[in-house]
Amino acid sequence: MTNTIAEHQASSTITLSPKQQEQPESLIVIGQGILDTLESLVPLSDYTARFILTDQNVYADWVKPLAERIGASVIQVPSGEQHKVLSSVEYVCRCLMKGRADRKALLINVGGGLIGDLGGFAASVYMRGIDFVQVPTTLLSQVDASVGGKTGVNLESVKNMIGAFQQPVAVLVDVNTLKTLPKRELLSGFAEILKHGIIADEAYFEWVVSSWQAGSETFDWVQCVEKSCHIKAAIVSADEKEAGARKLLNLGHTIGHAFEAASYKTESPLLHGEAIALGLVAEAHLAERTGIAAAGTCERISEAFKALGLPTSIEAHFVTEELMAYVHSDKKNLGDRILWSLPTRIGQAVIDAEVELELVEEALKIVQR
Ligand SMILES: NC(=O)c1ccc[n+]([C@@H]2O[C@H](COP(=O)([O-])OP(=O)(O)OC[C@H]3O[C@@H](n4cnc5c(N)ncnc54)[C@H](O)[C@@H]3O)[C@@H](O)[C@H]2O)c1
Ligand SMILES: [Zn+2]
Repeated sequence: MTNTIAEHQASSTITLSPKQQEQPESLIVIGQGILDTLESLVPLSDYTARFILTDQNVYADWVKPLAERIGASVIQVPSGEQHKVLSSVEYVCRCLMKGRADRKALLINVGGGLIGDLGGFAASVYMRGIDFVQVPTTLLSQVDASVGGKTGVNLESVKNMIGAFQQPVAVLVDVNTLKTLPKRELLSGFAEILKHGIIADEAYFEWVVSSWQAGSETFDWVQCVEKSCHIKAAIVSADEKEAGARKLLNLGHTIGHAFEAASYKTESPLLHGEAIALGLVAEAHLAERTGIAAAGTCERISEAFKALGLPTSIEAHFVTEELMAYVHSDKKNLGDRILWSLPTRIGQAVIDAEVELELVEEALKIVQR
């Protein structure tokens, strides 16, 4: 398999080596037109049957031709976060059972982060686990959701409450799929990309912004997705069960999640990346106010998001107490202590920082108009 991938033009591979020996290595292949050559990258003949999980927005352009070519059965679920629930896992498993999938069947998840999370989880529990391949088709899922082996579904209003750590046999990123992605969804993916730059690589941060400003038509998606996957994979490999360094990836997410959750109750819900852009700006402000970040860090982040077309502030219609309640329920917290991942400058961040609550409230306000 590795040899075939090495021969593939205009693509790059990353090997994610989890610390735990029981988890196999997962290959990430990134390129243009990867879906057209999927059968040369995955040893399909090793499997007794192939299934593709997708949704209605991805099916016609990307799944139909592939399914016909490789002789896969298609399982379709509706798009929308409200469908990332246990009943959908049961539906996928029923379809697999109906299609006589045995332990050597393969599930290929072609879609955004929702399809990857749902399909990855269904694959990890069907007959105690079958192999699956992730084919992420949104920018967010290409640079974030498909790396790291997290799968799962929501329970009531709590995101990803039920899930498993399970590595796919391969992650195949075809940047051509971004061509059909709505612009707002595409831009939203930039939040996680800039987050990677802020955590680990100043030059990457600058490159993304200047390349996008030079023209979206010439933007090098392969290089961008590759760099982001490298940064995330390096952090995840060092800390697969989220004990330490992986918390860096939560940068912008404590406040970002608060705005995201609160916005769901309004008529204009934010996309995840839009909320994270606000969170990154607010948390950089917080980091500066506490002396953790160098002066000017927040301004640079804010200017970068403006250049990429992401929001850096929102109409003020949120109640501070409500936002603070979300901040207090963040998964990183230990008991009553709110633990923050914060930037020290562009290219470096720290975990487990503690700050005064008044400063948090101030940070929430600076991104509200
Ligand atoms: N497992 C992880 O580590 C991880 C990390 C981040 C996010 N997530 C999860 O990912 C989900 C969000 O993922 P997302 O932002 O990709 O959203 P999504 O999967 O809901 O997709 C967004 C929309 O784009 C459509 N779409 C997808 N690809 C398309 C394409 N190529 N052309 C046209 N339309 C397309 C989808 O049908 C959907 O309507 C959330 O459930 C989140 O919890 C998981
Ligand atoms: Zn995120």
